[in-house]
Amino acid sequence: MKNIIAFAGSNSKTSINKHLATYASSLVDNAVTKILDLNDFELPLYGIDYENAHGIPDNAKAFLNQIEASDGIIISLAEHNGAYTAAFKNLFDWMSRVEQKTFMSKPMLLMATSPGGRGGQSVLEMASDRFPRHDANIVGKFSLPFFGDNFSEGKISNTELNDQLLEEVKQFADSL
Ligand SMILES: Cc1cc2nc3c(=O)[nH]c(=O)nc-3n(C[C@H](O)[C@H](O)[C@H](O)COP(=O)(O)O)c2cc1C
Repeated sequence: MKNIIAFAGSNSKTSINKHLATYASSLVDNAVTKILDLNDFELPLYGIDYENAHGIPDNAKAFLNQIEASDGIIISLAEHNGAYTAAFKNLFDWMSRVEQKTFMSKPMLLMATSPGGRGGQSVLEMASDRFPRHDANIVGKFSLPFFGDNFSEGKISNTELNDQLLEEVKQFADSL
């Protein structure tokens, strides 16, 4: 049995990206999934002065420990103004101060969704470019546009888009 972690790059308690990450993780056979929530890893806003005065907060190390203990990572990024949410970027910045190889070569299914037609493609592109510099091993990528139209009752309702996700999940599962 493989252990995977799934989480959204969002601190919204009703995060649509958390719904998507949870659904994608349910499609992976023979794996135990731990769903993580950024709200359980609260962190001060990164700043060099804070770091010099207080060091690295335990929650940044705790999240990295979850990555380290996993066999694979499913992440769905929320998009704010074409980029990472402040909550995710803050976590990423803190973790990168502990470990530059933040994603530790674990197979990663990288996704994004939004209520709009681009489905978070800007943040997906940003992460696709940046994460490999932190040892991300991106083996699948998926963007879900128009979340409100294409997702209901915990799953993707549009068959074509669901088939696309199944392909990406297969790549991910085969890499574990
Ligand atoms: C400050 C702010 C900026 C946003 N910018 C974008 C954007 O650039 N592109 C987009 O598709 N959606 C944007 N949205 C809408 C989000 O995609 C939407 O709130 C979505 O629910 C966020 O994902 P989450 O529910 O997983 O947090 C923005 C929302 C906020 C609050």
